[in-house]
Amino acid sequence: MAILKIARMGHPVLRQGAQPVSEAAVPDLRRLIGDMSDTMHDAPGVGLAAPQVLVGLRVIVYRAPADRIGDDDTVVPDTVLINPDITPLSDHMVLGWEGCLSVPTFRGLVPRYTHIGYRGLGPDGSRIEGEATGFLARVIQHEADHLDGILYIDRMHDLRLLVHEDEVDSFRFADYIESQEDD
Ligand code: NI
Repeated sequence: MAILKIARMGHPVLRQGAQPVSEAAVPDLRRLIGDMSDTMHDAPGVGLAAPQVLVGLRVIVYRAPADRIGDDDTVVPDTVLINPDITPLSDHMVLGWEGCLSVPTFRGLVPRYTHIGYRGLGPDGSRIEGEATGFLARVIQHEADHLDGILYIDRMHDLRLLVHEDEVDSFRFADYIESQEDD
C-alpha cells in the first residue's frame, strides 16, 4: 500500500468527469482502493475520490469516525463505493462545515441534502444499496461530486461562508445572517 499524492484545486483532473469502472479494470482496482484508504487515513480525511489521486475512475472511499460525527450520527467504518449513484430522498438541505483534501486549510458552510439514497458496487463487485442521513449523507455527496468535477465551493451560495480553518471557531454565522438582511 502507498500514500498517494493528492491533487490540489487548480489541477485539471479535479474538473474532469471520471469514467465508470468496468470489470476489465478490476485487477488494478484492489490496489487503488487500498492506496486510497491509506491516503485518506494519512491525510487524515473522512473521504477521498479517485480523481483526487489522479485516477479518473468513479471510485470513492469514506468513513464516519466517532471523533468527527454529530450526536445523531452513527460511526461508519471505511467504505468503498464504485460507480456511485446518489438520489436525494428529501428536498430538505442544511448548511454544514466541509473541508476537502484538495482545498487545504479552508472550510466552507455548504448546503447538502439531509437524506439520500445511494447505490453502487462494493470492492468485490457486489451491489451496494442504502440510505444515509446527516454526516454520512454529506460525505457521500461531497465525494460523489468529485467524480463529476465538482468541488464543495461550487455548491456554496455565498463565499463569505468560506473561511480559513483556523477561524472556524471565531466565525459568527449570526453576523452573516444580519448582514444579508441589511443588504
Ligand atoms: Ni473533497
